[in-house]
Amino acid sequence: MPTVTMTVNGKQVSADIDPRTLLADFIRVNLDLTGTHIGCDTSQCGACTILVNGDAVKSCTMLAVQADGAEVTTIEGLAENGEMHPMQAAFKEHHGLQCGFCTPGMVMSAIDLVKRHPNPDEATIREELDGNICRCTGYHNIVKAVKAAADATGG
Ligand code: FES
Ligand code: FES
Repeated sequence: MPTVTMTVNGKQVSADIDPRTLLADFIRVNLDLTGTHIGCDTSQCGACTILVNGDAVKSCTMLAVQADGAEVTTIEGLAENGEMHPMQAAFKEHHGLQCGFCTPGMVMSAIDLVKRHPNPDEATIREELDGNICRCTGYHNIVKAVKAAADATGG
């Protein structure tokens, strides 16, 4: 079995795994970081989105061995010193969630979105979040939250 080593939320982790292990399963099962959700088996929902070397990736579309040596950030790694990341705070402030199932993936995608579009308009936010599905259809407040986070971080 191959050994994978990566940095997850600032800590180096290493494990011998079946080479077919998906990155999403490695994170949830091997590392017990269950904030990364799995909401489909068709790579459509985006609930499993994490950051790999700073870029949003659907972790169900990547093998864990492909992330060997990478810097990975999951929703559990965003808060610093007990303070929510500005994107998390904006989702809370603007009620950008209902059941919360899509929220970790939405937040991770939104962080990548704002990195690439520091001052996004509504159309850009909606287009960029195309790969994240919210079954509660709370898109309106999600868009408001992303815009507010971009404004708060100096976009
Ligand atoms: S679980 Fe990865 S896109 Fe749905
Ligand atoms: S808040 Fe329920 S799926 Fe998005």
